Amino acid sequence: MKIFVSRQLPGGDFSQFEEKGIEVFISNLGRPLSQEELIESSEGVDILVTLLTDKIDGDVMDAIGPNLKMIANYAVGFDNINLDEASKRGIVVCNTPSHLVNEAVAEHTLALIFSLARRIVEADEATRRGAYRGWEPDIFLGELLKNKTLGIVGLGRIGKMVAQKAKALEMRVIYNKRTRDVDAEAELGIEYKDLDQLLKSSDFISLHVPLTDETFHLIDDEGFRKVKRGAFLINTARGAVVDEDALVKVLKEGRLKGAALDVFENEPNINPELIGMENVILTPHIASATKEARKDMFEKIKRAIEDYLEGRKPENIVNGEIWDLRRK
Ligand code: GLV
Ligand code: GLV
Repeated sequence: MKIFVSRQLPGGDFSQFEEKGIEVFISNLGRPLSQEELIESSEGVDILVTLLTDKIDGDVMDAIGPNLKMIANYAVGFDNINLDEASKRGIVVCNTPSHLVNEAVAEHTLALIFSLARRIVEADEATRRGAYRGWEPDIFLGELLKNKTLGIVGLGRIGKMVAQKAKALEMRVIYNKRTRDVDAEAELGIEYKDLDQLLKSSDFISLHVPLTDETFHLIDDEGFRKVKRGAFLINTARGAVVDEDALVKVLKEGRLKGAALDVFENEPNINPELIGMENVILTPHIASATKEARKDMFEKIKRAIEDYLEGRKPENIVNGEIWDLRRK
């Protein structure tokens, strides 16, 4: 039995498996592997531990070979793995959904909302460059969050946490979701809107949907035309949920006042126009990057592998329907 891990992980100790005679190979390159490198190093393995930077399609699965039984993805999102192709081959796919990861993403979202509203990054940059010459009444005027409307697109676990925290700031919270969640409305004091209405009435729009065929470019040119003038966009979900070219356009026009982006359409490449904009805050896909979250993600990976090895259906399997048909 062999496990390949595509990158060293914080606190990533696999010795409990090695003690059982399982061979564990961990890439020591300290960067995402090219497709060729990934295939070369994982050929013949039984279990593959991947990161969201590893694109695993059917060809890669075939190149790794017929021993491949499980892919454990060190992320909440699993859009980097072709799930249908995995299921067809009887390969079990797991992810690392975690309360602590969700909290981390929700807190990062709030940090970005505050930073946009109070222009923290711009003000910091100006202060460092020596632009502060004493108190002035009209520099870096921002916006109050209290009584502003936050529109949450995608009311999953993270979306709900963001809603709860925004309510504590006395924001009005509206949301959109494929299926309305009346219980969450009552519990959190939030209102359902269709996507158009949400775009039209939000001061801050925050995205919390997974990337799927349905959510690809969910906010495009047409969507941005509906956005309320002066609104802000926050994206801690996946870059391609937004049409990045359309985003650049609407920021340039000034309809959207600013954006805070943790994810990008073609990571790690970022549209150079976004980099040049003062009203845009960029963070390098770190919404889940807390010590607490990373520790928990690794625990989830270990638990999934342990369960799998002992013949128990892992709790975090994402293609659970194939469990009985899995490759042996
Ligand atoms: C991070 O983006 C994740 O999906 O865990
Ligand atoms: C999930 O958050 C959804 O939009 O259904």
